[in-house]
Amino acid sequence: MSKTVQLIIDENTYDLPVVEGSENEKAIDISKLRAQTGYVTLDTGYKNTGATTSGITFLDGEKGILRYRGYPIEQLAEKADFLEVCFLLIYGELPSKTEFDLFKDNITKHTLVHEDMRTFLEAYPTKAHPMGILSASLCTLSTFYPESHDANRSKEAVDLTIFRLLAKLPTLAAWAYQNAVGHPVMYPKNKYNYCENFLQMMFAMPAFEYETDPVIVNALNKLLILHADHEQNCSASTVRIVGSSQANLYASISAGVSALWGPLHGGANQAVIEMLETIMNDGGGLKRWIDKAKDKNDSFRLMGFGHRVYKNFDPRAKIIKKAADDVLEKLGIVDPVLDIAKELEEVALNDDYFKSRGLYPNVDFYSGIIYRALGIPTEMFTVMFAMGRLPGWIAQWKEMMEDNQPIGRPRQIYTGHNERDYQNIDKR
Ligand code: SDX
Repeated sequence: MSKTVQLIIDENTYDLPVVEGSENEKAIDISKLRAQTGYVTLDTGYKNTGATTSGITFLDGEKGILRYRGYPIEQLAEKADFLEVCFLLIYGELPSKTEFDLFKDNITKHTLVHEDMRTFLEAYPTKAHPMGILSASLCTLSTFYPESHDANRSKEAVDLTIFRLLAKLPTLAAWAYQNAVGHPVMYPKNKYNYCENFLQMMFAMPAFEYETDPVIVNALNKLLILHADHEQNCSASTVRIVGSSQANLYASISAGVSALWGPLHGGANQAVIEMLETIMNDGGGLKRWIDKAKDKNDSFRLMGFGHRVYKNFDPRAKIIKKAADDVLEKLGIVDPVLDIAKELEEVALNDDYFKSRGLYPNVDFYSGIIYRALGIPTEMFTVMFAMGRLPGWIAQWKEMMEDNQPIGRPRQIYTGHNERDYQNIDKR
């Protein structure tokens, strides 16, 4: 007999089932609440509402725990290859050597995109933000593969779309950047691994090959792993709800990219660097900015600080902060923005406003500093986040489809006008 809780409304008592997860998280199942009581629940921003059960990612905001399919993020970031983590998130287990080689091969052979995509690219203004290009390009991919629109697709057809998305996103991302700077696009080369291929498409030119630096490749691999999934965040929830209408996976991922673009979500990594540069150029020290961040009448917020779930520290931020130190040291780069970031963290973490609200550096606070060191331009930072998050979005979509979940359609409480009659315009 599963545990229940009681809800008393007027003179009626209702027993509601309790759902308990494998990490002892508890939820009250309200799936029959409206039918039983006529009531719905209200939770703007879903701060207290679980949208689904899921076996993909577990995080504990109080303890700063993050695991992909049970594996601690610290171990995966240190030891795994990003494509291994993609396989783990999407198919549920770490791949065997044979499975991994086949997976890599399937991705390598799909890295090219149709030449018509270059024609679309050329139509964008040179200063087009790469996130706008990426979101549009991913949805456009669906027009090249009409068979992917079929909601009753086979496992093989779904896998083919998964391979195409993982393979082509880096190509589309690099091409979006080349378009922004007016450079010729570079084509993927099979001799490179996933991270090397992206970097050479970003930085090689027809006149010279890109020389891969293991420090840069390893840092990128780690960053992609750290961004790979984060349970029911804004963009993953967007992918799920778009996919729940049985829109194709390309369209669902494209919607996720659009949601990620916002500065409160993935767009924060670009906003952090812009904020740190503003503070540095302001030259007036940190106090004015800390006070602005605390001032309710000021829209300024400390970008890269705070999180809906992590209320003491974001485990990814800890790893990225150390990686930023390592990468800058190995590359011999002195970036004053890193010093400003550390100073800002120190001041904020000793300020009761931030401590009392559980506001600590999140994944976006230090990641931009590494991207800068890798030579990635600021407007590409959120594209990098999307590249890392792609396997997580795919895994969330696949789990939702395999669970045969219904179309997502929340309720509301209407607070507008009561019934009234139409008045002809000459009587208004
Ligand atoms: C990501 O969900 C995920 O998992 C996301 C993500 C992922 O991997 O997918 O982790 C990636 O999106 C990380 C977050 C990146 N965004 C930012 O860094 C933008 C800055 N942070 C905030 O805008 C904010 O902290 C959010 C959006 C991240 C979380 O906001 P919540 O949970 O809705 O919290 P809130 O806005 O209700 O804030 C609670 C209080 C408020 O003050 P009071 O009303 O209690 O007085 O904290 C304050 C807020 O004003 N506050 C901040 C602040 N963040 C929250 N004050 C100053 N600076 C900030 N950054």
